[in-house]
Amino acid sequence: MITTRQAELFDDDALVVTDDATWSTLTSPAPHPGSPRSFFARTPVEDVIVGELDGRVVGFVVLRNVFGDAPSHQHVLEINGLAVHPDATGHGLGAGLVEAAVAEAEARGARKVTLRVLAHNDRARRLYARCGFTEEGVLREEFLLDGAYVDDVLMARFVG
Ligand SMILES: CC(C)(COP(=O)(O)OP(=O)(O)OC[C@H]1O[C@@H](n2cnc3c(N)ncnc32)[C@H](O)[C@@H]1OP(=O)(O)O)[C@@H](O)C(=O)NCCC(=O)NCCS
Repeated sequence: MITTRQAELFDDDALVVTDDATWSTLTSPAPHPGSPRSFFARTPVEDVIVGELDGRVVGFVVLRNVFGDAPSHQHVLEINGLAVHPDATGHGLGAGLVEAAVAEAEARGARKVTLRVLAHNDRARRLYARCGFTEEGVLREEFLLDGAYVDDVLMARFVG
């Protein structure tokens, strides 16, 4: 059974395991932060929703306001990280986490949820499209990864 809930500090170790297992140049343009580490050292716990498969934490989604306190941008929240451990994929948890983030955004009064996804990440792009996100633009050749330039795709879903 898959479930989602607000993250707690005791989820830190499980989140690092999933983050490490899914971190690659297919999924992230940033270098790996190194080990050992704390997940919550870089991401506030209140911005994280965890996903569980049969009671075990195997995924997360991060929802944050990338413009901080700017009053002009309070209606927009960004999905700023999404991962499901490879042992737990294909059960709908990825979609469940995206829907949980959208519901949380609505609860916080957002009007729009945005995200960025590397163009070569076909699986994630299919997932976001299935969850109602549409493309708003493409940053062409935005990242140089493994010797190749990769586009970054901007997607969004309106809520509320
Ligand atoms: C992308 C990612 C989050 C998907 O997670 P997931 O839990 O496998 O997502 P879902 O289960 O909702 O959907 C994945 C597939 O399983 C299928 N599926 C979902 N529930 C299913 C079920 N009960 N039975 C059979 N198939 C199912 C979906 O149709 C989907 O198929 P597709 O890939 O052919 O489109 C995961 O692969 C991941 O963490 N990738 C690495 C990190 C990453 O890319 N993050 C995004 C950065 S922008």
